[in-house]
Amino acid sequence: MAQRCSILTSVDDLSDGDISSIFFHARSQEFNEYKEAVLMTAFFEPSTRTRLSFEMAAHRLGMGISTFTQATSSQQKGETFRDTIDNLLAMGPDVLVIRSSQSLEPKNFHTHTSIIINGGDGVHEHPTQALADCFTLLSYWRLDNLQGKKILLVGDVAHSRVAHSNTRLMKRLGAEVILLAPRQLQLQDTMGQALQVESYKQLPCDVDAVMCLRIQKERIQEGCLMSDADYRKDFGLSLDRFSTLSDQCVVLHPGPMNVGIEIERDIALHERSLILEQVRHGVVIRAALMSHMLWGKRWL
Ligand code: CP
Repeated sequence: MAQRCSILTSVDDLSDGDISSIFFHARSQEFNEYKEAVLMTAFFEPSTRTRLSFEMAAHRLGMGISTFTQATSSQQKGETFRDTIDNLLAMGPDVLVIRSSQSLEPKNFHTHTSIIINGGDGVHEHPTQALADCFTLLSYWRLDNLQGKKILLVGDVAHSRVAHSNTRLMKRLGAEVILLAPRQLQLQDTMGQALQVESYKQLPCDVDAVMCLRIQKERIQEGCLMSDADYRKDFGLSLDRFSTLSDQCVVLHPGPMNVGIEIERDIALHERSLILEQVRHGVVIRAALMSHMLWGKRWL
């Protein structure tokens, strides 16, 4: 089949036209079949939603699927991340989705044929999650963009790749983004992309959506963490706190949720919770993205 080399590590790799095309195809859910194409997933960190939704999307497109499993791989015999990726690419998957604890550098990939998609890299980005989240909001509000919407991201914005990709993409789509985090989990520099506050009392306005984020304990040195109880008290989204926000405000969480810390169960199940919509849309967005990258216009 026709091949192209394309790498998506950041939402900034997408043009406005790419984003519109991906949302259009996700909305129509009319996808071509790619029976000769193979998706390979290589996850070096745990995942429930991202890996399986890529695999579900590949099934929807009629693709073959090949799954790398770190625990039974030759990484157990000392093979490095770099060598593993080079070897996976040498096998010629049409699409390789990588999740890793280190940032993915396009210059490190040796391929002229495979499409490479970031499935979440270190504290850098998670572009397909942001596409699914923004698509969820656009679908709920029946809008083509997020002009005039105010979106609050609450939690560990310093280490959350979801927050980084979402801040960029939500801004691109016209939203005002507010980041609420304890001081030690704030971004050093928002590069003018978002207002940053450290308590609900400092919110400058009503918000249309709130996204709760888990604390990325695996990326934070011990001793720099606040206790779960303190976090819940000051930042956790409870029914009481939710009732102080606009009565139209919707709730998002990219998962995995730590129920009872950043979000209470009754909020996750609330009629204005879009959390499972984010998961449903994760499949169609990844199908639309792979379809776009496999056969859409020239990429990058
Ligand atoms: N949102 C997200 O990346 O979930 P997983 O870690 O389960 O893939």
